[in-house]
Amino acid sequence: MDCFEQARRGFDRYVAGFHDPDGSVPFAISAKFQHTGEVCEITDRILAGEPGFTAHEALVFRLCALFHDLSRFEQYAKFRTFLDKLSFDHGDRSAALIDELGFIPDLPAEDRACIIDAVRVHNKFAIPADLPSAHLPAAKMVRDADKLAILRLIIRFFSGDFSDPTIRLDLPDGPGWSAEILETALRGQCVRYTDMKTINDFEIALFAWSGDLNYPASASIALDEDLFGRLRALLPADGRIDDLLESARARLAKLRDSRRP
Ligand SMILES: [Fe+2]
Repeated sequence: MDCFEQARRGFDRYVAGFHDPDGSVPFAISAKFQHTGEVCEITDRILAGEPGFTAHEALVFRLCALFHDLSRFEQYAKFRTFLDKLSFDHGDRSAALIDELGFIPDLPAEDRACIIDAVRVHNKFAIPADLPSAHLPAAKMVRDADKLAILRLIIRFFSGDFSDPTIRLDLPDGPGWSAEILETALRGQCVRYTDMKTINDFEIALFAWSGDLNYPASASIALDEDLFGRLRALLPADGRIDDLLESARARLAKLRDSRRP
């Protein structure tokens, strides 16, 4: 059994500990388990489009994907929420749990340090400037795969007949949006959740993620799946929102056609 498969089995066993005593799986636990699977699948797709990495680097990136949300199960079991502000920072806690639970014991210390760093920063507003440069490729990849998986999830959620307890927004739905947030997203700059006032603001802010992807293969996936076109379809008819989609597509096309960072 290879290292990833072994870790995957350990992860599955750990999550099974959060099933109900009768064997049924709470929806929130199952949703996060599926999200991890999706981030692993997207990581494999990014890797397929970025052939410059060694098999060992690919293993490290796949382990980052597997463990990136490790603390979500404990978070839900203890706090019944996925909101970090009401519980704990799930990036920090997931990183700590890798050690606490004794995962990947045979991996070299440098690889473990890289995975722990990438998991720790996967949910931060930006990658901290003091992250060791050797850990950047892993941090960038897990952030890309997570963003693409979250975009898929949000599109499914807002497209209708889908409910997911992992999406809980404390924002009202309404017809308008903040012009300032739209301009920030148009520039491809990330918007803080605390600045958002409506669901439209939230959806508009997601367009800035087109400027926060790192790998050309990630941009290819976003374009192939038309993630931003589908996101735009959720928003009102307006020329400025069309501009937003156009700018996101142009940014993605530029990254797709660029060299690997
Ligand atoms: Fe996360």
